[in-house]
Amino acid sequence: MSYEITKAIQGEDVKFKNPDPAFYEALGYDGMQELMYKFYDRIYESNIAHFFPQDPEEFEEVKKKNTKFFIQICGGPSIYDEEMKGKDLDQYMIDIHKNFSIYEKSRDEWLGTFREVLMELDIDQNIKDDFWQYLDKFSKLTVNRYLKESAYV
Ligand code: HEM
Repeated sequence: MSYEITKAIQGEDVKFKNPDPAFYEALGYDGMQELMYKFYDRIYESNIAHFFPQDPEEFEEVKKKNTKFFIQICGGPSIYDEEMKGKDLDQYMIDIHKNFSIYEKSRDEWLGTFREVLMELDIDQNIKDDFWQYLDKFSKLTVNRYLKESAYV
């Protein structure tokens, strides 16, 4: 598996499937927490760190919330529900990211960081591949800024 990042296209109707619960079953609650904390610790050191709170305590809160989300979306207990205030989970997630200017380049960094921690994770490859499909697709919905075709990058 190449952990391919497929391009986000403006206006595309992104079809995605939530991760197979096998991912949560393979890691368990503690394993999920460990994975997500590892991921966000690397995000804190990455090129997209500036999107996130720099204060360590505030960043800790982000880690906790995001871990809850990923546990729930992977079929674990519904511990993120309390954060959504009755809204649709996917729409809520898209809306949260609208508060930030996210270009494809930032998505690449986010996914590239996730790819690193997934590669270090010792579980069945098919389960990881399925999870990656979710990340690759859903992350397109967090991109809300596009460069013009002619832009020099
Ligand atoms: C599959 C893709 C993604 C998922 C599932 C995801 C999930 C989440 C979740 C659960 C939160 C916390 C929301 C809350 O309860 O407050 C969050 C916040 C955030 N995400 Fe994402 N995210 C994704 C992609 C990205 C990408 C590509 C970026 C690129 C910069 C990004 C940047 C952020 C930022 C800046 C926040 C707000 C942190 C804060 O509270 O200050 N996310 N995301």
